[in-house]
Amino acid sequence: MKMTKIEKRFVNRKNKAEGNIRKIQQAFQKIEIDKIHTVLELGCGVGFVATHLAESYNFVVYGTDYDADQIQITNEIQPKMEQLHFQVEDAIKLSFADSSIDLVLAQNVFHHIPGWEAAILEIARVLRSGGYFIWLDLTLLKFIKKIFHPFVKNYGLYTLNDIRTAFEEKGFKILFQERVPHGPFKQHHFVLQLE
Ligand SMILES: C[S@@+](CC[C@H](N)C(=O)[O-])C[C@H]1O[C@@H](n2cnc3c(N)ncnc32)[C@H](O)[C@@H]1O
Repeated sequence: MKMTKIEKRFVNRKNKAEGNIRKIQQAFQKIEIDKIHTVLELGCGVGFVATHLAESYNFVVYGTDYDADQIQITNEIQPKMEQLHFQVEDAIKLSFADSSIDLVLAQNVFHHIPGWEAAILEIARVLRSGGYFIWLDLTLLKFIKKIFHPFVKNYGLYTLNDIRTAFEEKGFKILFQERVPHGPFKQHHFVLQLE
């Protein structure tokens, strides 16, 4: 789902991306980073994280976002690099081939995807066996989900238990999980591996 202009003003900030990069560096302690060559970022916003990964680790990085305006801004502000690609993609219907990606990143994007379970299936499809998935996002308390569920149709609504169960059902092993302080909300960070 596309964000409003106000949401974009809040989200498209470099210092927000720096927090995301710190979480990725923490996740990298849990995975075999030398086996990573190709990275797919879902909901890349304006591309700071994807650019950092291409510049600092020399990965081939695909930064993708549902919103063509976000990708247009990204292409204007981020440096051009041979191994860095930005393109429009919907996380629930990716154009990437089966088993073609070593690492998928989804930071703060699942709560924008009403069909978030379909996105997990797509991630499992494009990842190679043993590939990694780094996920960071808000989760709702059960009673809050219940209140919102009848009338909120444009956002992904899930509890921590919903998301954890869905990861495991779609074949992911949990390597690391933590709760991250995030104001009045619960944010969770998962490092997963496709079995
Ligand atoms: C809250 S922003 C997060 C941006 C960045 N990952 C971050 O953490 O700052 C959510 C991004 O996900 C994108 N998005 C929403 N629905 C999507 C979908 N179905 N597939 C891919 N990206 C999507 C939005 O356009 C937006 O750029």
